[in-house]
Order: sequence, then structure tokens, then C-alpha cells
Amino acid sequence: MRKKIVAGNWKMNKTFTEAEDLLFGIADELQQGRPEDVEIVVFPPAIFLELANDVATENGFFAGLQNISEHESGAYTGELSAAMVASAGGSHVILGHSERRTYFGETDALIAKKIDQALKHNLTPVYCCGEVLQEREDNRHFDVVEKQVSEALFHLSEDDFAKVVIAYEPVWAIGTGRTASPEQAQEMHAFIRKVLAGKFGDAAASTAILYGGSCNAANAKELFANADVDGGLIGGASLKAVDFVTIIRSF
Ligand code: 13P
Repeated sequence: MRKKIVAGNWKMNKTFTEAEDLLFGIADELQQGRPEDVEIVVFPPAIFLELANDVATENGFFAGLQNISEHESGAYTGELSAAMVASAGGSHVILGHSERRTYFGETDALIAKKIDQALKHNLTPVYCCGEVLQEREDNRHFDVVEKQVSEALFHLSEDDFAKVVIAYEPVWAIGTGRTASPEQAQEMHAFIRKVLAGKFGDAAASTAILYGGSCNAANAKELFANADVDGGLIGGASLKAVDFVTIIRSF
């Protein structure tokens, strides 16, 4: 059985009091009822990690960061290391998000190093992949995603690979309100699993593959109903406690 996971990527949103309100709002909502078999993770801005981790551990969920450095430590002004995240109680880290690739020039080779750092410090990497609109229109989306997956993950041992979570986030669906159809999501998730199975064998059957991109309280159920969709990485809709917990309850 593979894990079901619903995760909220807050991106660069919320001040301290707003973050507190959201975290306690999520905790309150979860007390009204939650599926026991769904792992829940929030990814607040780094400055709120300790707060998020305190609320998360008291309420049966997890907190992590949206990025880490590829370096262990040292003179890298403004950066945060995997060791820091782990020592502050963080459990997961998003790596390879399309916004980091586009705005910060992150390549698969760099992301591979970040994945190694995360694993070294026992953080669960949530590795994001996905094509841009032009690539889908040119029917290159499978090739693009296969390359992203192989270049960032194929150097891993089978044991390390087993600790990785994947998020398929078609870039054309992120923040656009244009969600992938359940068929498009299932087709790509099954393809990713096949690519992973080609390298890692049976271990791929246990990999959680999340969908991200305009997933919300209204469409989560039909996305999560697909055999290879093991949950969601939620952006905008994770910024409201009721919406986020409604998505969690969509399984
Ligand atoms: P939206 O849910 O706002 O489209 O964002 C998805 C995303 O990028 C999650 O990492």
C-alpha cells in the first residue's frame, strides 16, 4: 500500500499572525474529522517553520520547507541547509518546483544535489516535475517529464529512492485555474510510475505521486479517484483552512 498525501505549498504568502491563524485553523478543522490514512504536510515560508512544526506535531501533521541549499553549510548568505530544517523539526522539503526552475534557474543537476542533501538529513524530498504548455501542445510532455525524473532521481540507490515523493505539476495548470483533467493526470502519473519502475523495479509501486496545479476543494475528489494519483500538492487552495481540509477529506 502506498501513502496518500495532501500537502500545502504556501509559497511566499502570509505574515506571522496570518500564518498562526491558518495553522490553528487547519488544526481546528482537522478536529472536526479527517481520514486517518492521509499524511498531511504544510510548507510555510521558512521563517514560520518552528511555529508550523509546533502546531503540526500537536495535531498529527507535518511541516517542511519549500527549498533548501545544495550545500552542507558555510558562506552562502541567505541560504538554508537541510540540517537546519531537520534540527528545527521539519520533515519534508519541496524540490524542483517549477517556480524555482523558472525564476531561480534551478536545473535537474542542481536539484539532484539538493535531493542528496535532503536524504542525508532524513528529510523527505517532494520532487516536482511537469511540462510547460508549449511542450504539451508539441506532444513532448512525456519526454520532458521522463528527462526531469531520470536526471534528478536515477543516481539514487533503491533505498534512497524509496524515501522520495513525486509531485506532477503541469506548469500550465499552476495558479491558472486550468486544472489537468483526471484523465490527463492519471495518464501522466501512470507514465511516471512506469519510468520509475524501469529503473527501480517494484519499488516504484510504492512511490506516492501527487498531483499539483489548480487542485481545489471542488475538483480534488475526481483527481484523487484515479489509480495512480496518490494525493495533491496544493498551492492557492492551501491558504484557506476550510478549503485545505476539504481537499484532505476528498479521499
Ligand atoms: P496552485 O494550486 O495555486 O495552482 O499551485 C500549485 C503548486 O504550485 C503547488 O506547489
